[in-house]
Amino acid sequence: MHSTARTRLRIAGALATVLVAAGIAAGPAAQAGDRPHRQPTLADLAERHGRYLGSATDNPELTDTAYTDVLGHEFDMITPGNGMKWYATEPQQGVFDWTAGDEIVDLARSHHQRVRAHTLVWHSQLPDWLTSRTWTADELRAVLKHHIQTEVRHYRGTVYSWDVVNEAFNEDGTYRETLFYTTLGPGYIADALRWAHEADPHAKLYLNDYNIEAVGPKSDAYYALARQLRAQRVPLDGIGLQAHLALQYGYPASLEDNLRRFSRLGLDTALTEVDVRMQLPATEDKLARQADWYRDMTEACLAVRRCVGITIWDYTDKYSWIPAFFPGEGAALPWDEQLAPKPAYYAIRDALD
Ligand code: XIL
Repeated sequence: MHSTARTRLRIAGALATVLVAAGIAAGPAAQAGDRPHRQPTLADLAERHGRYLGSATDNPELTDTAYTDVLGHEFDMITPGNGMKWYATEPQQGVFDWTAGDEIVDLARSHHQRVRAHTLVWHSQLPDWLTSRTWTADELRAVLKHHIQTEVRHYRGTVYSWDVVNEAFNEDGTYRETLFYTTLGPGYIADALRWAHEADPHAKLYLNDYNIEAVGPKSDAYYALARQLRAQRVPLDGIGLQAHLALQYGYPASLEDNLRRFSRLGLDTALTEVDVRMQLPATEDKLARQADWYRDMTEACLAVRRCVGITIWDYTDKYSWIPAFFPGEGAALPWDEQLAPKPAYYAIRDALD
């Protein structure tokens, strides 16, 4: 059967289950006064496979209680969408502000969720004091080490992992010419990992990037770097594949093979920022294809032992970053703007169940 048709059938089945569970449609065993049987959450289902199912979130959304209800019960891993980035945590040189990150860590802890911390070294969302002047290599090395170690020490014991370096490569597999690369050379990556490890030896340390889901020049660059770092005993634990996909660019069919080759290096992998955007308006057909992609990604992760979990880049279209960054595109997440589950939600369940 064509997978879109399969999605529709499975959605119908899943929907019936939800209606019965919610007491909206009476199942055979439902009786007046019965407590509706609570459905396993996505996190419950993922945990049966030894995986986590996470969502990003951001501070401004946390006043929306309908939103935080679902965030608090459906997931077992949380990533702050912005609150731990350099501009937020060190707004003036040497002056640290943990307000945003702490709020999210506290919320996650109150729901017994773990935290994928994001991110220490990235060319984007840097504070002005860092980008508005030039630095010698010695100066920048000291600034970078201090930033990494102060932040990692602050969150030591409270986070599961760190995206230590984010988006270090260009599409062709050459190093991105960031402030860090141009001033310090490629060794900044190994240094960043070592400094982070010193500050929290228990946190899993990741390199994270987009467009590395498929085998290709950019993921090859990570593969080569990861192999080199492992050989040099640099503390690298995993590779994060952001997986910001778009229907119009096609599904990364080699995802599973790609995950597997990193596993063979002794590394964890994770899908860290999943969304599947589309050109608006969303149609039934696009939402069905999107659901297939979410199912296929989930199945790919489950098929590779060291793919440890999946994080979606927020769970609802209400708070997705896509419309602001890709004009005319959106509808990228498994819950719609009214917080209602979409076909993609049932497809993830289906893959996990
Ligand atoms: C995005 C946030 O979701 C937005 O709120 C912010 O304005 C820009 O950054 N890759 C990453 C994330 O690693 O940090 C980005 O998050 C999305 C792309």
